[in-house]
Amino acid sequence: MNFPTEVIERFEQAMQAAEAAAEPEPTAMSLATASTSGTLSVRTMLLKDFDEKGFVFYTNTLSNKGQQLGQHPQAALCVLWKSIFQQVLVEGKVEPVTDTEADTYFASRPRGSQIGAWASMQSEVLDSRDRLEQRVAEFEQKFASTDVPRPPHWSGYRVLPDMIEFWYGMESRLHDRFRFTLQDNEWVRQRLYP
Ligand SMILES: Cc1cc2nc3c(=O)[nH]c(=O)nc-3n(C[C@H](O)[C@H](O)[C@H](O)COP(=O)(O)O)c2cc1C
Repeated sequence: MNFPTEVIERFEQAMQAAEAAAEPEPTAMSLATASTSGTLSVRTMLLKDFDEKGFVFYTNTLSNKGQQLGQHPQAALCVLWKSIFQQVLVEGKVEPVTDTEADTYFASRPRGSQIGAWASMQSEVLDSRDRLEQRVAEFEQKFASTDVPRPPHWSGYRVLPDMIEFWYGMESRLHDRFRFTLQDNEWVRQRLYP
């Protein structure tokens, strides 16, 4: 279900304000996932696409988060912009991006990052730094004369929100909160107590 225009406008305005305020890593967000047994994990990710459908990030699909998302395709996001005292919270279902989207984004990445995607067995135990560097050298050699293809274990996910909340910090501490929830295929907008 596409966002109402107001949601897109609020998110874009906040991102632009954070960039204008020189927020370090304005696209950084916390991503929370859960396993079927109820184990919760959170880590920082970079938001790579935002549109009327949702929020996209890219990663190793065999990583801890990839495994959790395979078991339980639901996530929560928290984007905090300290420089403008604003926060956006998101909750929703998660679906893989299309192969075309993943290929297009992977192709736009620097070659070093592309090699890294092959070399890093993200979230697995690594015996030594040397081993990682050895794997990087191996893949550099393997792809020396070609473009680096997207690894089969590297792709993106789109969080399709059923809840998005905009939090605007106020010096008075009486902050403004607007929550949009998807109810019976309609977006409902409510103001919340801070
Ligand atoms: C600022 C910042 C941005 C990050 N962006 C990404 C990202 O876009 N994709 C990614 O896979 N990991 C990213 N990471 C690393 C993740 O936080 C995490 O360590 C990694 O994805 C492994 O997570 P997992 O073991 O829970 O799967 C980033 C870390 C930081 C601090």
